[in-house]
Amino acid sequence: MNNIVNETVVVKIPASTANLGPGFDALGMALSLYAWLELSVAETTEVHLYGDGMEELPTDTRNLVYKVAQQLFAKAGLEEQPLKISMYSEIPLTRGLGSSASAIVGALVAANEMLGKKFSDQELFHMATELEGHPDNVGASLLGGIIVSSWDGIDAPYVKITPANALETLVIIPNFQLSTEKARHALPEQYTKQDVVFNIGRSSLLVAALASGQLQLIRQAMQDRIHQPYRAALIPGMSYILEHAVDYGALGAALSGAGPTLIAFVDCHSDSKEQLEQFMNETMKREGISAETLWLTPDHFGARVIYESVNAVHDLPFMELIKGEGY
Ligand code: HSE
Repeated sequence: MNNIVNETVVVKIPASTANLGPGFDALGMALSLYAWLELSVAETTEVHLYGDGMEELPTDTRNLVYKVAQQLFAKAGLEEQPLKISMYSEIPLTRGLGSSASAIVGALVAANEMLGKKFSDQELFHMATELEGHPDNVGASLLGGIIVSSWDGIDAPYVKITPANALETLVIIPNFQLSTEKARHALPEQYTKQDVVFNIGRSSLLVAALASGQLQLIRQAMQDRIHQPYRAALIPGMSYILEHAVDYGALGAALSGAGPTLIAFVDCHSDSKEQLEQFMNETMKREGISAETLWLTPDHFGARVIYESVNAVHDLPFMELIKGEGY
């Protein structure tokens, strides 16, 4: 097909946590948990998916990566192009760690690289936000670090904040899925002035604290009245963990995106890490929820191309190609 510069592209895309407490639909941070995606030109479309839960996803032209890549080609004036898609993801699906955002971002970055970077990062961010409906997860996944953004349906201006070196996170991932749709449905249509003022204050303080590295402010700044209180009923143990994580050494804690994953921000020099992990695990256990904890650091780089070739065919099978990449 004309205009394709690279017939094969492999990208690595980070997971993300959205909202960070009060910054509903506005704040996101990329995390050191990844998905890898290979796109290549093919005679007929084939989709190969690897990783836990990936077998649930469609492997034909209904696949999200396929659809998003075709949308980018269409924007560039290209016709539908059969693609060979291979994706391995260590980001658990529908848990609040931005798995769908990683697929959207991966598809856009890889398809754009096939076209020799026809679109800018800002344009990709705009396309991703339009597809996802909010900028928080896609912004972080695409650009890395902490992304502060607002979306009015037309524009998504953003500022990237580099997370402090000392910032580390502990996530607890419950063993059940919670759709973003269901978690958004739990929210009210209207809020009181007090709650709005509460969140504007906390969210502003949080951005300033993260930008200036004043991590001790996170405890107060991470509080929220816009979404977490309404979602708590969907996640056993959530309220208790959010309230008490600081007693066990966390800088602050929040629901990760729409949940059910919870995220604690931690100073990497803290000597209470083990204690915090035990507290979070025991709280979930008491609620009868099996869950997995992971220590993650902020990802500073966002989606990146790790392999590209002008030829569609190469010697290495996909899983061999990404081996050693840290999965
Ligand atoms: N800001 C979104 C929400 C993130 O909380 O619903 C989930 O995708």
